[in-house]
Amino acid sequence: MCGIFGYVGPSPHGAKIVLEGLKRLEYRGYDSWGVAVVPASKGKIVVKKKAGRIGKASVSDMPKGSVAFGHTRWATHGGVTDVNAHPHLDCTGNLAVIHNGIFENYESIKQDLIKKGHRFISQTDTEVIAHLIEEYAKTMMLSKAVQRAYNEMEGLNAFIVIQTKEHLLLGVRNGSPLVVGFGDPENYLASDAAALIPHTRQVHFLEDDQMVIVGTDQVNIFNARTGERIRPLKQKLTWSAEQAEKGKFPYFMLKEIYEQPGLISEIAGESTIQAKKIAEVLKNAHGAYIVGCGTAGYAALAAQYLFSAISNRHVNSVIGSEFGYLQNFLVKRSAVLALSQSGETMDILEGVKKAKDKGAKIVSLVNVVGSSLWRLSDVRLPIGVGPEKGVASTKAFIGKLTHLILLSYAMIGKITKGQRILTRAAKAATEVLKEQRVSKIMKLAKKLKNTEHIFVIGRGLSYPAALETALKIKEISYIHAEGLAAGELKHGPLALVTKGIPCIVFAPNDETQGANLAGAMEMKARGAYIIGISPKKHEVFDYYLPVKDVGEATIIPNVIVAQLLAYYLAIERGFDPDMPRNLAKSVTVK
Ligand code: F6R
Repeated sequence: MCGIFGYVGPSPHGAKIVLEGLKRLEYRGYDSWGVAVVPASKGKIVVKKKAGRIGKASVSDMPKGSVAFGHTRWATHGGVTDVNAHPHLDCTGNLAVIHNGIFENYESIKQDLIKKGHRFISQTDTEVIAHLIEEYAKTMMLSKAVQRAYNEMEGLNAFIVIQTKEHLLLGVRNGSPLVVGFGDPENYLASDAAALIPHTRQVHFLEDDQMVIVGTDQVNIFNARTGERIRPLKQKLTWSAEQAEKGKFPYFMLKEIYEQPGLISEIAGESTIQAKKIAEVLKNAHGAYIVGCGTAGYAALAAQYLFSAISNRHVNSVIGSEFGYLQNFLVKRSAVLALSQSGETMDILEGVKKAKDKGAKIVSLVNVVGSSLWRLSDVRLPIGVGPEKGVASTKAFIGKLTHLILLSYAMIGKITKGQRILTRAAKAATEVLKEQRVSKIMKLAKKLKNTEHIFVIGRGLSYPAALETALKIKEISYIHAEGLAAGELKHGPLALVTKGIPCIVFAPNDETQGANLAGAMEMKARGAYIIGISPKKHEVFDYYLPVKDVGEATIIPNVIVAQLLAYYLAIERGFDPDMPRNLAKSVTVK
């Protein structure tokens, strides 16, 4: 989950290049940060590292050097302290390591190394890697020592090593992503392709067990288990540098919310061929499963309703982390549609790999082209929303819904009807983002900012909308929010309703409207404050947020209203919506 960025080339400003790279990667982890450089003037590696956010950090006090790397941390082993921040050095100070993942058997290896005289100063598993390589490098070449250390490590890990004697970055990957960026005449290693965009668009995504030795004008890739040479598979990144910047917006999340109407139109216009292709795979499948985690899991749940309502088809939606326990009925002709923004979510990858082993066909809807999920899929469709940097997913969710609506219509050969509905959805989304509408949401956020709990209810397609709304509110405003199928209220949760508790109700113009409003009535009768998101103002609403009716696609503008509310709740409460506490983008651990 951590961010990794490494540079090797002719520039003496390696530390500065790395720091800028880390700033583009901070969404991957923001407990602490650190940079290391091999000084051009010789001497030991110089490290600067600190607990806390990278913010306006500078490395102008670091020496010049053209081999450097850095890390933004999402802590796993050891508390969030300066000492535990990466990079970590060996005993000599001539070798440094940054690491993403969990080194599971580090304790026994650490004990052996202590017996051999190694001194440890942090509580991290990463520091053990530095000392292990130091130990092996006493009797073999550095690359062999890295390879040997890697082969002793259990768990899913990616790490990079630098050493004062070598003008190189040595990286290896298992589980956690690592991407090589090809510059001229300089090269890079990073945990995310998006961080490389200002420098290069030519990349190679390392596969598990691939080791890479990166010099200024050479990139050599090997199988870290067998030592066999591997030819790089260069891919071209299509994202632009502007897409990865905040521009005029104060936060990425807000920028990404505002990008959504344009993206809906783009996807509706450009993705029909792929939607038809995937529709054929699903139609021919013997049972189809749609999987995703968190927000992507709610998109999967929405797909189940969309396929039922539009395509008259049954698909099973499953949470990624549970999918592995539900596979006994997978057969060769089963299809799995995996949804993921990053394409690196471990809970998805594990379930999908198991399904693949059983012979199921893997179809994926992924935003990061070239990511692990992308590569292991048989059929792929890019979500196509550009880099998503806000930790809380917004445009990737709306992008997934847009594709899924198109796909549901493609299943019944009516893709043009799907496109028409989506064009209306894009207009409804634009209206939701108009100043007057947004100020009403801001006013509501002010009103709710001190509340401790919020209920969100809906039925049918509004049920995943309710779950997604609650998740957005929780993760960035830290208000406890509970998303519920409205019909479930009377089966337990009503017991929690007290006077004044806010309850958001989705009441679109569909078969669920009457029952949704009845749920709101039940809440109101017990003192709840009802916030209605609906095309029509109803009596039960204490606060009304209008949204246009666009048929099955009404979930799109509905969720955009909810995203804005969550965003302004975070702002009102003084929190940074882009970097929620304890979270990081791209969840590469189990
Ligand atoms: C919530 C959020 C997460 C992700 C989840 C899956 O706002 O962003 O719940 O949706 O971690 O991530 P991806 O889509 O990258 O697989």
